Amino acid sequence: MEKVLVNLDKNSYEIFIGENISGVVDKFISGKVLLVTQKNIFETCKENFPYEVAFIPDGETSKSLREAEKLYTRAIELGLDRKSVIIALGGGVVGDLAGFVAATFMRGISLIQIPTTLLAQVDSSVGGKTAVNHALGKNLIGAFHQPRAVFIDLNFLKTLPEREIKSGLGEVVKYGVISDENFFTYLEDNADKILQRDLKTLAHVVKRSCEIKAEVVSADEKESGLRRILNFGHTMAHAIEEETHYEKYRHGEAVAVGMIAAAQISLELGKTSAANVARLENLIKKFGMVTTCAGLNADKLYNVTFRDKKAVGGKVNWVLMKNFGEVEICSDVPAQIVKKVFGRLCNGNQN
Ligand SMILES: NC(=O)c1ccc[n+]([C@@H]2O[C@H](COP(=O)([O-])OP(=O)(O)OC[C@H]3O[C@@H](n4cnc5c(N)ncnc54)[C@H](O)[C@@H]3O)[C@@H](O)[C@H]2O)c1
Ligand SMILES: [Zn+2]
Repeated sequence: MEKVLVNLDKNSYEIFIGENISGVVDKFISGKVLLVTQKNIFETCKENFPYEVAFIPDGETSKSLREAEKLYTRAIELGLDRKSVIIALGGGVVGDLAGFVAATFMRGISLIQIPTTLLAQVDSSVGGKTAVNHALGKNLIGAFHQPRAVFIDLNFLKTLPEREIKSGLGEVVKYGVISDENFFTYLEDNADKILQRDLKTLAHVVKRSCEIKAEVVSADEKESGLRRILNFGHTMAHAIEEETHYEKYRHGEAVAVGMIAAAQISLELGKTSAANVARLENLIKKFGMVTTCAGLNADKLYNVTFRDKKAVGGKVNWVLMKNFGEVEICSDVPAQIVKKVFGRLCNGNQN
């Protein structure tokens, strides 16, 4: 079993990565437990989790105050108190909702994350962001609430639909770009094994991704500076997701297109080389991910980027690429450059 430390003073915790590690979870539990999950996930592993269970429906719409309220009711009925623990067993939807409930129930109780999608294992279960959606926008109601521990059982990846693996890979590629060229090269060299779900290879991919996220989050827990680099590819991705009502693209797919956009904008501004952009595009293609957002309207997408909650004072903070492992934040990218790149990707062309 591998361990990664998220170093946040009194909020520090460990990420455990391995196979069949549910036995360890018990050691981190005190008091009453409510496990939040989805039926299909629980079916595959229920013998490992002998706790009270609350099921939430599949899909993004479960990240709502309505579902949160149902969980509060269940927690009160079960007599959960400030010493109790909520376990989130599932993908980012379960993690964000159960995390939000743990952050707010009795002003905050302990949370254990057991992420079951690749996206949740490499990204959403680590870092303490929790949220539900509002009718007027995604993740608008939330809190920072670090978990007590994160348990990543790689066996969950075996049953994951292929599209969900690819969605998680969007975030994985991002880590290579923002922080580690060696890791990016590892992904290039091992793309086939990753797609075949070789667990040894995935163990390294998940561990290295968690290390990078942990490093960034440890340096900037509440996203006042460095943590913004985790948004590489996300400025356009959020606009694509909003424009398509979170139905057409999985999050990591939108991030893949968004990373290509950010790289191309970097090239237009002379910050990176054409070779770097091609290298990024090639890896995204190798993973069989979408590379354009053909059919969307570039002007609309452009306008939507300014409605993003990360746009501060009417300015969009672009994360731009210089080299692999080297990015910079830029808030004054000329409109015509952004529109040119968006236009290309909306026309279904990469170049
Ligand atoms: N908090 C954060 O820092 C953060 C970061 C990134 C994304 N997110 C959020 O994460 C959410 C997306 O998460 P997601 O991509 O994991 O989607 P998801 O939670 O909807 O899971 C995708 C699908 O996979 C199924 N599934 C989960 N585990 C499975 C398994 N082991 N085998 C088979 N099927 C399984 C789920 O039932 C679901 O149908 C979004 O709401 C996004 O906002 C949060
Ligand atoms: Zn993301």
